[in-house]
Amino acid sequence: NNPDLQEIHDFLVDLAFKAGKTINGALPTVSSTDSKKNSSDLVTEYDRAVEQQVSTALKEKYPQYDFHGEETYDPAHPLTDAPTFIVDPIDGTVNFVHGFPSVCISLGFAVKRAPVVGVVFNPFTQTLYSAIRGKGAYLNKTTKLPLKGTNVEPLRGLSNSLIAVEWGSDRSGQNFETKVRTFEKLGKTREEGGAMVHSMRSLGSAALNLCSVAAGTLDLYWEGGCWAWDVCAGWVILTEAGGIIVDANPGEWTPRLDSRKYLAVRGSPNGEGQKEIVEEFWSHVQGRL
Ligand code: IPD
Repeated sequence: NNPDLQEIHDFLVDLAFKAGKTINGALPTVSSTDSKKNSSDLVTEYDRAVEQQVSTALKEKYPQYDFHGEETYDPAHPLTDAPTFIVDPIDGTVNFVHGFPSVCISLGFAVKRAPVVGVVFNPFTQTLYSAIRGKGAYLNKTTKLPLKGTNVEPLRGLSNSLIAVEWGSDRSGQNFETKVRTFEKLGKTREEGGAMVHSMRSLGSAALNLCSVAAGTLDLYWEGGCWAWDVCAGWVILTEAGGIIVDANPGEWTPRLDSRKYLAVRGSPNGEGQKEIVEEFWSHVQGRL
């Protein structure tokens, strides 16, 4: 039988508020923080504790569904088609450690690898984004996204855009080279072959970047290197707000949830300018992620 998406949504919202209390009660420090692979790939005892809290509650309530979480991820068990909770207990761990208030818990649910429920909660600012496939996306349960409602402007090309990018936690190799060279191209003047975007921002959380694109306060978000748990919840919120998501590398219009490379574009009246801005963005990507 089919999962009850409304019930799952309500349960995830409740769980996000509970986990938010754990996050707000935490006192992380830079010196007590572990790194996974390098000095920018951080994990705290709170990431592990929140994942434990969330996975225990989900396994008790929904023992029939799979669980895929950042802190317990095992490469021997990649995503499958089964209904799966996809969870990042603390997205924005670097911010969390520094006390920079761009941090969230990201709770997603996917069926056949398609995200269908998303709940993203920033406990520092008490901001909740949520969506169920086919039922719209909301801020704090009642304000429909995008925030500008019927006044959403059509997209007007890269040079009129505010774009989210991230350094990410992997700072070497081809992925990093492609990012840095693309950032330069995006920022540079048009006379010098660049796109000269309005500017670039990094919220330090993939989920919050996606929610800001859903809200319409950012126009695009380009990312290579993050994981399904960083994007699953935000994906539903974005697409329910009229946004689209494609591959970060040129040419791939249908990205996989676990492809680790994404380009998100905000909603626009009748989708006007979405495809064009994707193609324009792709023309500035310097290499392959
Ligand atoms: C990170 C954030 C960041 C993204 C990194 C992720 P974490 O997640 O989402 O925005 O660029 O790739 O690893 O480690 O804070 O959960």
